[in-house]
Amino acid sequence: MTNRRKFLALVGGGAVLAAGGAGSWAMTRDPAQARLPWEQAGETEDDPRRKALSYAILAPNPHNRQPWLADLSVPDEITLYCQQDRRLPHTDPYDRQITVGLGCFLELFSQAAAQDGWRADIEFFPEGEPQPRLDGRPVARVRFAAQSNAQPDPLFGHVLQRRSNKEAFDSSRAVDTGLLGEIASAARTSRIAFTNERAEVEALRAKAWAAMDVELRTYRTAKESVDLLRIGKAEIEANPDGIDLAGPLMEALSVTGLLDREAMLDVNSTVFRQQAEALKPSFDTAMAFMWLATPGNSRADQIRAGRDYVRLNLAATGLGVDMHPMSQALQEYPEMQPHFDGMRAATGMAPGETLQMFVRLGYGPRLAASPRWPYETRIRTA
Ligand SMILES: Cc1cc2nc3c(=O)[nH]c(=O)nc-3n(C[C@H](O)[C@H](O)[C@H](O)COP(=O)(O)O)c2cc1C
Repeated sequence: MTNRRKFLALVGGGAVLAAGGAGSWAMTRDPAQARLPWEQAGETEDDPRRKALSYAILAPNPHNRQPWLADLSVPDEITLYCQQDRRLPHTDPYDRQITVGLGCFLELFSQAAAQDGWRADIEFFPEGEPQPRLDGRPVARVRFAAQSNAQPDPLFGHVLQRRSNKEAFDSSRAVDTGLLGEIASAARTSRIAFTNERAEVEALRAKAWAAMDVELRTYRTAKESVDLLRIGKAEIEANPDGIDLAGPLMEALSVTGLLDREAMLDVNSTVFRQQAEALKPSFDTAMAFMWLATPGNSRADQIRAGRDYVRLNLAATGLGVDMHPMSQALQEYPEMQPHFDGMRAATGMAPGETLQMFVRLGYGPRLAASPRWPYETRIRTA
């Protein structure tokens, strides 16, 4: 779900700002600890696997759940697992999106290894592809091999600046067709399509929003997101994952009781209506859309989709274009089915093809990095 910052500003911003005089307090409210992994990436020198891991954990992933767990017990190898209680069973019942996020992780891992002259040979699902959900079997086995002619990937240079930008974009700034083509060319195996044509963009905005409305009005899917809200520095630093609402305004609102999680789930409440009003601008200011399709929907397809998706995100970063996934219409639960079908038709999916990612593009404000668990906590010990 997109963040709720605007909604919160509507609900209580006036009152909080009127309180005034909170400048120095405000300075201390950034969850700086939770952003440290972005500053510390690459610092570890001893083991190239750890170094690559410190970058890979910066990958985009659904609801920032960071489900990756790496086993380093075999020298020169890592075995990647999915921590199963970090999946999203209501909005992602077949773990498709979680697997795409693991693909993003593997791409950054491989780019980071190449940067230091290592080739990371990746075998997907070495003990078989789990279906219909992921299980305890490994997602990938990665072997490190010294590569004399290592070719660093220029996209790696954008890893630390990459963001999912969930804010409203500048509605006066179109995204040039040439730039969209350049971003699309960063993908290696997926089929990428895009549009910045006004009528098409408007139609897709409406479809994406209609799907978001279903997610918000379906109690269990909305609750999955509300349960992952981390409001204010203390909550974010205690659990640097999920949907983070940082900053002095959020903290003040929380204290005044205006962030009631139950009210957000009550479709008849004022809070619910204001939440929807606040989420909509990010849909209304989508200036272009891009989508990524794979020929099938095997686990390997999903991993490849993730590898390509983060490449698009990095290429966009390098070109100064903001990107933001809008996955609601891609989700596989009964209430969403009409929107799922509608989005497939609107994006021209061929029979058998899978729409793996759907994102908006434009130009938004600069953002701080999103929270991460330190990479050391994502190493499997047992
Ligand atoms: C498969 C996938 C689906 C995602 N879907 C959404 C989405 O529907 N809405 C959204 O706001 N962000 C979505 N995201 C972005 C994540 O929320 C984001 O990557 C995460 O919060 C970490 O933030 P960062 O990318 O800025 O590091 C998605 C990311 C992935 C990989």
